Amino acid sequence: MKYRTMGTDPKTRREVSVLSLGTMHFGTATDEATSFAILDRYAAAGGTFIDTADNYAYWTGTQGGESEELLGRWRRSRGVGDEILIATKLGARPLAPGTTFIDNPEGLSARVIRESAQRSRDRLGMPRLDLLYAHVDDPAVPMAETVEAFAELVAEGTVGLLGVSNHWAWQVERARNLAAAAGVPGYEVLQYQYSYLRPRTDLPGERSPDGMQGMLGGDLLSYLRAEPQLTAVAYSPLLRGGYVRQDKLDAAEFAEFDHPGTPARLAALREVAKDADATVNQVVLAWLIGADVPVIPLIGASSVAQLNESLTAVDLELSADQRARLGAAG
Ligand SMILES: NC(=O)c1ccc[n+]([C@@H]2O[C@H](COP(=O)([O-])OP(=O)(O)OC[C@H]3O[C@@H](n4cnc5c(N)ncnc54)[C@H](OP(=O)(O)O)[C@@H]3O)[C@@H](O)[C@H]2O)c1
Repeated sequence: MKYRTMGTDPKTRREVSVLSLGTMHFGTATDEATSFAILDRYAAAGGTFIDTADNYAYWTGTQGGESEELLGRWRRSRGVGDEILIATKLGARPLAPGTTFIDNPEGLSARVIRESAQRSRDRLGMPRLDLLYAHVDDPAVPMAETVEAFAELVAEGTVGLLGVSNHWAWQVERARNLAAAAGVPGYEVLQYQYSYLRPRTDLPGERSPDGMQGMLGGDLLSYLRAEPQLTAVAYSPLLRGGYVRQDKLDAAEFAEFDHPGTPARLAALREVAKDADATVNQVVLAWLIGADVPVIPLIGASSVAQLNESLTAVDLELSADQRARLGAAG
């Protein structure tokens, strides 16, 4: 495994593995025994960066919490302590079973931040959340209220690092400015959907007519380049299996990849994979980890075999020529 540091403050910064493990389906679609086996394998391979959220898996008809609860049981049964960072998120938990984060989200008020963080600590069995993200933006709450509420949790020691997901670039910058002006910690970890295939950015999103806030595009990439002390985490880096299953890539949820650049990029990926004696999934992960704006891929896995394939990518170094070929395509 390889490691890198997230955060700047010596009191909260953490070294984590360059590959993060998502647990969105753990405890629901992925049963407990399989989830524990994947977690055990990840930890044995030196993985130290696990991701969850307070709303996983609300789509099963609940308000979520199943993933955090499973992680709490795994931590207790394995005696896991501070050596493994578990990141969680709040703000997108539906306020009632059967509703979603689009029509009925808990949002980012000071009260929600305090109460939901407490619930996550209880479910995970952790007195301190190592990394807490704002899961989606909340235009109904003044940003200063959100920034202050997160900072209070850091000040009282119940949260370490702060992160942000699925916000427009201007919102991230504004929130960080508000925090800096108030002399309190701001968001230092940015979690967005990002992979090798280029998404169209002109399609309306589920939560905005202006586009998809969850996509890491040029605005955020240039921001990360200008602020190298920030950490980028990429969710769905393997497009949920779409690189090896055309039917998944063709599904309506990936409409942003339905454009003429995609076949060229897929062809380059296959060519470099052959050249590097690796799988296409491994090339995608290596491409992200070793990029000039380095990214931590946040992978999902529904079996130990899938995780093993991703773990191998950590040691795959793409040559300058391979990177150039990948970069030029599409
Ligand atoms: N911040 C956010 O809004 C947000 C949104 C989405 C996800 N996330 C986080 O990101 C994590 C990962 O998201 P994701 O599941 O979309 O990531 P992903 O790594 O792109 O997709 C994981 C899925 O891809 C397939 N897969 C993985 N390895 C494979 C392999 N070697 N060969 C073939 N198929 C493979 C599996 O599908 P099958 O099970 O069908 O085989 C697996 O469930 C989540 O668990 C969550 O923690 C965050």
